[in-house]
Amino acid sequence: MSKVTSSTLFKYKQEGKKFSALTAYDSSFASAFDQEGIDVLLVGDSLGMVVQGKADTIPVTNQDVAYHTRCVSNAVDRALLIADMPFMSYATPEQAMTNATELMQAGASMIKMEGGHWLLETITMLTERGIPVCAHLGLTPQSVHVFGGFKIQGRDEENAKRIIEEAKAIEKAGAQLLVLECIPTDLAKTITETLSIPVIGIGAGADTDGQILVMHDIFGISSGYIPRFSKNYLSQTGDIRLAVKAFIQEVSDGTFPSESHTFN
Ligand code: KIV
Ligand code: NA
Repeated sequence: MSKVTSSTLFKYKQEGKKFSALTAYDSSFASAFDQEGIDVLLVGDSLGMVVQGKADTIPVTNQDVAYHTRCVSNAVDRALLIADMPFMSYATPEQAMTNATELMQAGASMIKMEGGHWLLETITMLTERGIPVCAHLGLTPQSVHVFGGFKIQGRDEENAKRIIEEAKAIEKAGAQLLVLECIPTDLAKTITETLSIPVIGIGAGADTDGQILVMHDIFGISSGYIPRFSKNYLSQTGDIRLAVKAFIQEVSDGTFPSESHTFN
């Protein structure tokens, strides 16, 4: 059981092998996900919502993410562990270096940041100094107040073009992975085919190289509702490990996401 690295994901992309990712926030769930064969675990700043009960990810601090990264990293043997950089923790390259260092020392093997053009210098600086970067484009939840709500992105041509340009630029700047959230299927497909780095989608259709979901959503216990792009795997299996196995299987054979989970 060899460790999953950015090279592993790159190889998956070249081989056309779809891979799966889940968020995790504690060692018990992370250990189960890891043992069932999940390739990527993300300590998401979604923890603000699913762990802390906040309305969005804005209140999450770097210490919060570092704490949960330590919890998860104690349990993970195989999966690539990514830690999310929270709101305003990477507003300048200097802040990004300090805060990303804390997350790497907490056990992450890669950090994730939301943004495109304005982040290019930061991506290069971190990568050159030994901190691998996953970028995140489309519906970037830390900008919820700029978007005026959690809204699908990339629907009009101008916005779609901008996302494509930003995706190319972040790859050029040194990012090794990209998350695309809540954009139309066609746009995600174009970006996935254009980039040589692996692309992970959430609400971005079936054509990305990998899929990620929030763990609480696949167990149907998120407060309020399950997003359209997610799926409750616990109700159909009745067991947490079997639910994770089913998610991994459905991503790998292309069953998930289906048309009903995507935006066109
Ligand atoms: O915070 C998070 O859980 C995320 C994923 C949804 C990609 O950023
Ligand atoms: Na996030």
